[in-house]
Amino acid sequence: MTEEFAGQFGPASEAIKQYVDILASRGGEWGLLGPREGDRLWDRHILNSVALSPLVPEGATVVDVGSGAGLPGIALALYRPDLRVTLLESLLRRTEFLELAVAELGLAERVEVARGRAEEHRVRYQVVTARAVAPLERLVGWCTPLLSPGGVLVALKGASASAELAAAAGSLRRDRLTGVVRELPVPGTPDVTWAVEIRRQGDSQPVS
Ligand SMILES: C[S@@+](CC[C@H](N)C(=O)[O-])C[C@H]1O[C@@H](n2cnc3c(N)ncnc32)[C@H](O)[C@@H]1O
Repeated sequence: MTEEFAGQFGPASEAIKQYVDILASRGGEWGLLGPREGDRLWDRHILNSVALSPLVPEGATVVDVGSGAGLPGIALALYRPDLRVTLLESLLRRTEFLELAVAELGLAERVEVARGRAEEHRVRYQVVTARAVAPLERLVGWCTPLLSPGGVLVALKGASASAELAAAAGSLRRDRLTGVVRELPVPGTPDVTWAVEIRRQGDSQPVS
């Protein structure tokens, strides 16, 4: 399956295989991935991450909040060579892992690693992504200040997307934000996953 999965990445198919090797080896050694994740890297992590690609406008600036070992940020950057991506991560050890991976994958020209907490970061982006970082309501508080006008927060939530959106409804209304659940095909698999898109009210059109 590896070749078939990697083929989803077109010209970056060798680079994504290299990234999977980095995750399986150094990611495990540095304690960034659980011992059982090795077999599930492609479908559960890599392809699930790039499922959000249709929600990211062409040429957008993206910040991946709580990037961890680079998901979805590094996978998305390899899948979408048109994007400039910042990997924002609060833990030093993880930013060290990310810096090594970015250099080894030859991504340094358009992928930057930033150490810090989302709620203290002061740069704005057209797209904020987040996967497995915090419940939606908390994520919205941290991440919507990072959005440039017309920007979108894309929270990959899987099966909990609708329930998290419902739980956050009050604070979204209060902060004049709108939220929509998007069902997304997982490339190269028969699966789907779900993300929540959050925008400021009145910002119906994404900026590309
Ligand atoms: C469970 S991991 C998920 C990592 C990755 N997104 C993934 O899907 O595999 C959550 C990550 O978010 C980082 N994190 C938690 N709160 C954060 C914050 N406020 N700002 C930036 N990073 C944060 C943690 O250090 C950790 O690396």
